[in-house]
Amino acid sequence: MVDENGSIRTLSVDIGGSGVKAMVLDITGTPLTERARVDTPSPAKPEVVINAIAVLAAAQGDFHRVSVGFPGVVRCGVTETAVNLHSDWVGFDLASVLSQRLNKPVRVINDADMQGLGAIAGKGVELVITLGTGFGSALFVDGKLVPNMEMGHHQFRKKQTYEEQLGRAALQKHGEKKWNRRLEKAIASLQHLFNYDYLYIGGGEAVKINLQLPLNVKLVSNVTGLLGGIALWRD
Ligand code: BGC
Repeated sequence: MVDENGSIRTLSVDIGGSGVKAMVLDITGTPLTERARVDTPSPAKPEVVINAIAVLAAAQGDFHRVSVGFPGVVRCGVTETAVNLHSDWVGFDLASVLSQRLNKPVRVINDADMQGLGAIAGKGVELVITLGTGFGSALFVDGKLVPNMEMGHHQFRKKQTYEEQLGRAALQKHGEKKWNRRLEKAIASLQHLFNYDYLYIGGGEAVKINLQLPLNVKLVSNVTGLLGGIALWRD
């Protein structure tokens, strides 16, 4: 399963609350295609989201295997939660169904976990948060992932969760200024809790950050969500 250069090509897919994105990576995780995006269908039930992935895949040329970042808890390829998509995802065997549809091996992990795998240095305590429709989080110790850390649904302040305070709905309702002030408080609170060496902030709304960030806080580009796809096959 190699191309003419002897390299395995991985289709990396990021399912988000507002967009489904895809690109092909070479064996080192370097992009081989432009990142393509389609709007997440609404209602975002499994069948229509899988159709959207198939459309993206067909436009990406050859690939040998597929990595998917999913916005919910994922265990052994099965999606267990999907608060920003649809309840039909609870207990859905995404890895098997997509594998049958694309006729390729498929691995699935949480979207923030995948983003983190593409962003971290692999040393010390590294925390990743993603700011998009939802609030994603991923924790790594010396490069080893603590999977499915759902910080977004934990209480942050004023009886609201991180996602309620910092998700896209809150950004749209309260505006960038207030959202940035909240984010500053969240960063301070997370530093105290995790004493991380680095915090990485990604996701589609990270471009709205307008703060003087501490030196150990780094913004990561939108493409990072897909670059982590290669790490799913590292065993
Ligand atoms: C989900 C997480 C996901 C995050 C970002 C949250 O609502 O529970 O699993 O990582 O949104 O998509």
